[in-house]
Amino acid sequence: MNTVLQKAVGQAQSLSREERIALLSWDNDAELFAAAYAVKMAQTGPRVSLRGLVELGNYCAKDCLYCGIRKSNRELERYLIEADEALRMARWCYERGYGSVVLQSGEIESPAHTAYVERIIRGIREFAGDSFGITLCLGEQEEDVYSRWLEAGAHRYLLRIETSNPRLYAAIHPPGHSFQRRLECLQSLKRLGYQTGSGVMCGLPGQSLEDLADDIGFFADMDLDMIGMGPWLPHPDAPLSKGMKLSAEQNAAQLRLGLKMIAVTRLFLHDVNIAATTALQALDGRGREQGLQAGANVLMPNVTDVQYRKNYQLYENKPCLDENSEKCRNCLSQRVLSIGEQVSWGERGDPLHFHKRIVDSKAN
Ligand code: 5AD
Ligand code: FES
Repeated sequence: MNTVLQKAVGQAQSLSREERIALLSWDNDAELFAAAYAVKMAQTGPRVSLRGLVELGNYCAKDCLYCGIRKSNRELERYLIEADEALRMARWCYERGYGSVVLQSGEIESPAHTAYVERIIRGIREFAGDSFGITLCLGEQEEDVYSRWLEAGAHRYLLRIETSNPRLYAAIHPPGHSFQRRLECLQSLKRLGYQTGSGVMCGLPGQSLEDLADDIGFFADMDLDMIGMGPWLPHPDAPLSKGMKLSAEQNAAQLRLGLKMIAVTRLFLHDVNIAATTALQALDGRGREQGLQAGANVLMPNVTDVQYRKNYQLYENKPCLDENSEKCRNCLSQRVLSIGEQVSWGERGDPLHFHKRIVDSKAN
């Protein structure tokens, strides 16, 4: 094995920025992925954690230039699932052994929304007890809102920084979307004691390999527990990609970059949870399996009722639009078995990194 890879496998955070850049542009994908896979095996073994994804609603106060559910997009019907319906979907995950659920929606900051989410969290805790994971992915909020949801029983939060380069952040968001606030939200989440996740899009227009190497450095500096990344994909109604279609070669390059980011992140951080995201699958039917083989250990199957899914398309060609949750469940476990791994049914799948972080903070 190449000596840089050997060093990375042997010890977390041993790669310099230059080495991370070199690995991101290295042409021996098979060797890179195998090294990342070896690190994953040493950390979690051949086990995949599932989080059932409930897309609560697509109302959004934000206007991100890449996103299909941005506020200015009038081409879709807006919806918000009734709390009882969301509870039914979460209960389905619980009863089917998914181990945890993710509640996701567009970014809304309002007392009504805070109360709505709180009601769902409390409802889930009532039937599921503590052994079931509850992750939130509900965007930027005030610290007291995060605190209320934590109190209600949520314990994980995903908030992608999208890119750690403030200049690139400004280029893909309209004025008024603040990089600084997003950063402060991540800091609040950590301070409050959430298992905290973030991530970026890769292959954005104007993004360099240096940016991506810095993103991985950012994950380490922020001491994150979970990482969710995916290739950027054009959406027909989003200004960043208006009229743009990627060629087959460009799609393949986006997929490859997404997989390399997973691999180099695993090689650098070792003990975090990394998701093989749906964006990978949008590019290739076996994209998520490839993500697992490049070092990811989490899958987030959509469990939202099929009737809502067409209105939650962040990007084009989002997969499983017509596949109901039961079908996805069967298909997914087959996919996991096909690469020689197993689903950790019924387990919360907490990130190893979080446990170490807590032990360290108690020791100090
Ligand atoms: N391509 C890829 N990912 C996207 N997201 C939003 N729009 C796109 C797109 N066009 C991602 C963002 C967001 C997550 C929920 O979906 O990273 O944080
Ligand atoms: Fe949805 Fe396979 S994961 S149909």
